[in-house]
Amino acid sequence: MLHELTLAGERFAIRDEGRGPPLLLVHGFPFDRTMWDAVLPALAPHARVLVPDLRGFGGSVVSGGSVTMARMADDLAAVLDALHVTEPLVYVGFSMGGYVGWPFLERHGRRVSALVAVDTRAAADTPEAAAGRLAMAERVLAEGSAVAADAMLPRLLAPDRARRDPDLLRRVRDLMLRADARGIAAAQRGMAARPDSRGQLAALRLPTLVMCGEHDVISTRDEMRALAAAVPGSRFVEVRDAGHLTPVEQPGAVSAALLEFLARRGQPAG
Ligand code: MLT
Repeated sequence: MLHELTLAGERFAIRDEGRGPPLLLVHGFPFDRTMWDAVLPALAPHARVLVPDLRGFGGSVVSGGSVTMARMADDLAAVLDALHVTEPLVYVGFSMGGYVGWPFLERHGRRVSALVAVDTRAAADTPEAAAGRLAMAERVLAEGSAVAADAMLPRLLAPDRARRDPDLLRRVRDLMLRADARGIAAAQRGMAARPDSRGQLAALRLPTLVMCGEHDVISTRDEMRALAAAVPGSRFVEVRDAGHLTPVEQPGAVSAALLEFLARRGQPAG
């Protein structure tokens, strides 16, 4: 079911399917909860799968010109409170959803029993990358969401995917076009300001899975391997024939890796 909540006068949406231990799937930029649609059916028989829209995307409304990752993390905690989800959950963060995961762990760590970092980064932006985001925010506000969609589309999928699967390419572009320009701009500014979270990794004492598309050019395999190496006892899984957008491009492989991780939890890493 879809919950549409009003919290302190602001609107949030979160999908809530299945029964069992809670699993939170946090989407990337500039997407919304529907980017997990193809992964969800395999998970819902095994878990209570909670799939929120981050502030500014889907059914969660943006307020203000910038939304920090910490703010999004606090939003998630407030939404979970509203749904009375108190049991520690598995936090699955894809890309921007992973950026939100670092402050979520810092500020709401008792809510997390395990972590899955999917095609994401712990490092902050370089000054050049941050400046590019701020410029993109201005352009999107002036010209609309297509500017962001067209800039990102060539970097999201495995090489040759566009030729092999033009329908998928169209669907991904449509997903991005649905995003509200104000939400895109606010998230870009928030991502540009995010701190470096790499210092947090060595202290993590949670079962952790790091998952990366073989051809990801945004959060590269090398960077994600380094992230996994920094988290004690974590596992690293590479998703074959995928670029950055693994949950959309290879949902079967992503859900299989998640289910295997859920089944192994509590056992020693190996
Ligand atoms: C995402 O998929 O969330 C974005 O690629 C994150 C980013 O722009 O760094």
